[in-house]
Amino acid sequence: MLLDVFTQVPHAFAWLTEQRPLASVLGGELELRLFNYRDTSPLRSGQVDDDPYGGGAGMVLRVDVVAAALDAVYEGAPAHRVVALTPQGRPLTQAVVEELALEPQLTLLSSRFEGFDERIVTQLASDAISIGPYVLSGGELPAMVLLDAIARRLPGALAEGSGENESFSEALEGGLEYPHYTRPAEFRGWLVPDVLLSGDHARIDGWRREQSRARNAVS
Ligand SMILES: C[S@@+](CC[C@H](N)C(=O)[O-])C[C@H]1O[C@@H](n2cnc3c(N)ncnc32)[C@H](O)[C@@H]1O
Repeated sequence: MLLDVFTQVPHAFAWLTEQRPLASVLGGELELRLFNYRDTSPLRSGQVDDDPYGGGAGMVLRVDVVAAALDAVYEGAPAHRVVALTPQGRPLTQAVVEELALEPQLTLLSSRFEGFDERIVTQLASDAISIGPYVLSGGELPAMVLLDAIARRLPGALAEGSGENESFSEALEGGLEYPHYTRPAEFRGWLVPDVLLSGDHARIDGWRREQSRARNAVS
């Protein structure tokens, strides 16, 4: 996948790109490009935002600035999906991640301050996605959330099979995963369930399915 992120803060992504699983797929299954709106802004001194028409607090990311950034990279309207990250978008779920992870190319648009000129969302983007019903100061964290979730679903990102039975996966019918335990088997009197020490894989599988079902029943 070729994934392009447009942002005012490209250096914010440095930490994430050094972490696995993203680092494992970069340069292979995933090519990541970071673009700063300022570099292609048609306005003086790299201006990217402006006062809102009608008045009100805060600055709004300009549509001509985002159009210029997209034109500079794609030389016209992109043929692939362009996702605007906004609290008003479609809620991000594992099903949305799975869907986006199949795309050969994807563009993420982030904003800051009061957000996008609405024409960016309606005319330049094909999708609008929210990472949850709360407001962050910028689209960089939402872009990183999406980037990390997509990277996990690309071939070679995780050890064989480890992404298949995670919470919200198809294998668990969108439900929650069973609890995990590791050594020591007893700590401060807190015991690992006997079944996990039994070596009986049929019993262990049954216990895990039951635990998963119980968690889903209360969630
Ligand atoms: C301070 S927010 C703008 C909030 C906007 N004025 C509103 O009330 O919906 C600035 C930018 O951060 C990003 N952002 C903040 N919260 C987000 C969320 N929950 N999901 C996706 N993007 C978000 C978006 O790119 C947004 O344009």
